[in-house]
Amino acid sequence: MKRLVEKHPLAIRWFHWLNFPILALMIWSGLLIYWANDVYRIGWGPTTLFKFFPESFYKAFNVPQRLAQGMNWHFALMWLFVINGLLYVGYTLVSGEWRHLLPDRNSFKEAILVTLHDLGLRKGEPPVVKYNGAQKIAYTAVVLMGAGSLLTGLAIYKPVQFAWLTGLLGGYEWARAEHFILTIGYVLFFVVHIAQVVRAGWNNFRSMVAGFQIVDAQHPAPGEPVAGAPGRPSSPTLPA
Ligand code: HEM
Repeated sequence: MKRLVEKHPLAIRWFHWLNFPILALMIWSGLLIYWANDVYRIGWGPTTLFKFFPESFYKAFNVPQRLAQGMNWHFALMWLFVINGLLYVGYTLVSGEWRHLLPDRNSFKEAILVTLHDLGLRKGEPPVVKYNGAQKIAYTAVVLMGAGSLLTGLAIYKPVQFAWLTGLLGGYEWARAEHFILTIGYVLFFVVHIAQVVRAGWNNFRSMVAGFQIVDAQHPAPGEPVAGAPGRPSSPTLPA
């Protein structure tokens, strides 16, 4: 027998799925702005290993000569990004969801074991919890990155009005570089996140869309109290 177990509250699913297009548009409009003064590269002295970004990349995404359009989109959407982020953090605090998300003192060790397991270097299943150590660290880090993007963004958007903030972040040039590095960080997070979602399978993905997952009737679901423990929620059973 199988049963349905609620995994992600409706509010979390809304915040999550709204964040996806908003962040994608923030990155896209940021690229339109960055193009106008594309100073970053990986290299030393006159040697450049990689330039952010090659001409072919700009051409592929139809980026050139769209600075004003990029600024309009970026400064309009940042409000949605911030409001959605604040509501998400506020909800996790009020609902107690933060307990599943915040790393604890075992999370770092657990994250290493999960990574070794995912790379096929370690046998044994990761713990049956809502989020394992690696996920806790990644999800908390991405929320902190959101706060970092807001602060570094304000510092370079209004460096006169927020002179104290720009100074705290190391000055305009540093704040701009930090803002850029955080954006690269989102892209890296996204690549790993999607790989893990694909790996975890349909049941897991559906839980972020519909809110529930299907588990064996005999086994506790991730994050669920162990059978017989007080407060275990009853859930409908399905034929196998
Ligand atoms: C197509 C894009 C995306 C897909 C398919 C996707 C899918 C998922 C799924 C299935 C989960 C639940 C994982 C689990 O239950 O083990 C999840 C959680 C999460 N995702 Fe995504 N995601 C996407 C984009 C993003 C983006 C762009 C971000 C932020 C930069 C993000 C941040 C998070 C966070 C913070 C959680 C934990 C939410 C919570 O429970 O509070 N996701 N995602």
